[in-house]
Amino acid sequence: AGGALGFGAARTATAPVPGAAAAAETEPSLGPGGGLPGFGGESLPCHGPHQAGVITAPAAHVRYAAYRLRPDADAEALRRMFRVLTGDVEGLTSGEAPLADPEPELAARPARLTVTVGVGPELVDRAGAARPGWLAPLPRFDRDRLNGDFDGGDLLLAIEADDPLPISHAARMLERDLASFVEPLWRQRGFRRARGSEGDGTTMRNLMGQVDGTVNPSSSEDGFDGLVWLGREAGWLAGGTALVLRRIRMELDTWDMVDRPGREQTIGRRLSDGAPLTAPPAPPLGDGGERTPADFDAKDARGLSVIPVAAHIRRAHSSDPSERIFRRASNYDDGHEAGLLFACYQRDPLAQFVPIQRRLDEADLLNEWVTHVGSAVFAILPGFRPGETLGAPLFD
Ligand code: HEM
Repeated sequence: AGGALGFGAARTATAPVPGAAAAAETEPSLGPGGGLPGFGGESLPCHGPHQAGVITAPAAHVRYAAYRLRPDADAEALRRMFRVLTGDVEGLTSGEAPLADPEPELAARPARLTVTVGVGPELVDRAGAARPGWLAPLPRFDRDRLNGDFDGGDLLLAIEADDPLPISHAARMLERDLASFVEPLWRQRGFRRARGSEGDGTTMRNLMGQVDGTVNPSSSEDGFDGLVWLGREAGWLAGGTALVLRRIRMELDTWDMVDRPGREQTIGRRLSDGAPLTAPPAPPLGDGGERTPADFDAKDARGLSVIPVAAHIRRAHSSDPSERIFRRASNYDDGHEAGLLFACYQRDPLAQFVPIQRRLDEADLLNEWVTHVGSAVFAILPGFRPGETLGAPLFD
């Protein structure tokens, strides 16, 4: 058990870290990578037609921070804010500390840091831009238990990296530089496995133990752009997308009391490898696996559906291909509460997230153990090129 890849399977550390001895003898240099071994020196470009952090491979750690605009932050102030933000994002993600960074050493190893910027309805109004119909609080779902602690916001920064240190540093620098324009509203921290713990590209596991994220549109498939990236008709948002972020609490104590078959039927997939449930005999491990298409018509010897009628994957599955969403979830565990930071991207939450969530809210076996306690929708700004300002199209 444990797999052959990464340090997650190691019992004792016997292999020397390549280059470690050499690095120890030389003074680390500042700048991207710092010349040291390891993934800490890796950086991702922040420039491009789309912002980084949406389809780039998810990092091990994420921090979502939402802000409210200060009352005097008018369109002119917002233009200044986006200029400051652009410089900071370019600096922090490349490993070059931004201007007046008192701790440039903390920026030097970004570990694939990305900063993805989103805006809420109030910011769009103040900038004088047209607000898309979906940029508003989501319609209420019966089972929602939102308490205002993690809802909405005018500006969102989603900061990801494989190391929590550059995230913490970036968040502090950004907050310092944005302080005259915005004030903090809420923050949420999420995680996946540590980088290197298992092979790159392995589907994550959530805190209920399930393989989570298997059936997800791929950015290389035909039709992905039409599901996720907004086109020219979206005006200032062309090249952007819509983020829905739901904080979903898990009742892990009662989940622990459910036996393994019960847990597998709740989702409709087996826990060991995430393969969909099939009529007996079950295929051996590694045979078929998580990528096997689910057979929703399969019946057992008694004529009952092998994947129960209210199993999560049956309720969440979209038969209309244009209703699909691009999921990018992470786990959270604040000590007193644990669950899933369910993030998904799409062109139009009202036509994609909402119908799926309506079906889940109505009848999903998982509902017994999960509760939506936070909800936010943001317009994720289009990407920008060197010399351009992030968010500039808002003011065109
Ligand atoms: C599939 C877990 C909430 C949409 C899955 C799978 C798991 C899972 C284990 C099967 C593997 C996979 O394809 O990823 C959870 C948990 C949730 C949660 C633990 C809450 C804590 C949601 C929400 C939505 C959603 C809120 C959207 C409204 C989907 C979709 C699929 C899926 C679209 C793929 C369905 C298909 O096979 O076509 N989820 N999920 N999930 N989930 Fe969730």
